[in-house]
Amino acid sequence: MSKFILQPSAVTGIPSKYTTETNLVHADEFLNEVNDVAPPIHVSTTFRYPRDPSKLIAAKDLPLEDADSHVYSRLSSPSTARLEALLSSHLNGYAIVYSSGVAAFHAALVHLNPRQLSGSLFYHGCHGVADIHSRLTGMKQIPLDCPVEDLQPGDVVHLETPLNPLGTAFDIKYYADRAHSRGAILMVDSTFAPPPLQDPFEFGADIVMHSGSKYIGGHSDMLAGVLVTRDIKTRWKLWDERLYLGGVMGNLEAWLGTRSARTLEMRVLRQSENATKLVGWLSEELGKEGSAIGRVVENVKHASLQEEEWVRKQMKGGFGPVFGIEMKTELLAKTLPSHLELFAHATSLGGVESLIEWRAMSDTHCPTTLLRLSIGVENWEDLRNDLLQAFEKLAKGEQVVLSGKH
Ligand SMILES: Cc1ncc(COP(=O)(O)O)c(C=O)c1O
Repeated sequence: MSKFILQPSAVTGIPSKYTTETNLVHADEFLNEVNDVAPPIHVSTTFRYPRDPSKLIAAKDLPLEDADSHVYSRLSSPSTARLEALLSSHLNGYAIVYSSGVAAFHAALVHLNPRQLSGSLFYHGCHGVADIHSRLTGMKQIPLDCPVEDLQPGDVVHLETPLNPLGTAFDIKYYADRAHSRGAILMVDSTFAPPPLQDPFEFGADIVMHSGSKYIGGHSDMLAGVLVTRDIKTRWKLWDERLYLGGVMGNLEAWLGTRSARTLEMRVLRQSENATKLVGWLSEELGKEGSAIGRVVENVKHASLQEEEWVRKQMKGGFGPVFGIEMKTELLAKTLPSHLELFAHATSLGGVESLIEWRAMSDTHCPTTLLRLSIGVENWEDLRNDLLQAFEKLAKGEQVVLSGKH
């Protein structure tokens, strides 16, 4: 087997010598070919064959996956290999990276080629991919909570948890058991809560996907997608198909991803903790009579507010950095972002900087009173104070003062 594949300890059953924080910094070192401490940027799309003619083996005699050096970057490249090694170790399976989250979802559908896809309310971009796939293959789309008898062997159940845009959690074990009882497969989009927040494999997921553009990139400066499997054969099949689908991750992005993955664990823990503190504060304020927040906010949604026991078991590392606020009116929802100093009004999530989005700007199916907040690594009390002054302005009916700044 190619040296570019790390055997994750979760797959081999042999515990890794080091903890996950250490692995995120070191698990790709075996692929380092230079004496630089920081991974170099490799931009080459093509790689020299050996000079020694006796070492040249025809492709028909050496399967590409057994090659011990890179050949062409649509197959593999130094930076994507390093990122895949790090993510395999952290995501507890064989990770394969793509150019974006939707490219990863597309690759999974092409590979699994189900007759039915069961899922509801998952990320609208993935719904777009499913619609294209249905048009081309006739794949039927059925609801997540369809009668269990409607699931057939080989069907795919697609569960996104925590769910975009509210950050609410769904019970992975429940949906895994349901799918498996009918011979179906459970794919979990775990973008909103990478480990150490949750590991869907622990609860029965068969394939895990991430939009790596969010927490894995973590700095709002790269697109990436990731699929993770527990079985090496599926990994190689996905790799083989990626070669022809062409959704490979760019060399520069993969280098950025490797740099960012080093701090993935500490960022995500801090962001999740910040969000949970803000949600706790907001829901407490909502309960207080006459509070400015109570006058403008209808409710707050986040996994930390769910009381079911499985939520705490599933999200043992924290409840995720994204939550939703429903405002009392559409105008209040549209205006709040403009009163904020620290939150950029923008789509996406997962970066070190806090974002807020009047969600109707990008999602045609959500209520026009909804704001989605993606919490960064700033001091949570600074974020709280910024939100508080904005809510107070809204409660007083103050107008937005426009400056030249975006
Ligand atoms: C839950 C979820 N899955 C998948 C995607 C798609 O990822 P990308 O934008 O990297 O294609 C997103 C993007 O926002 C997302 O939020």
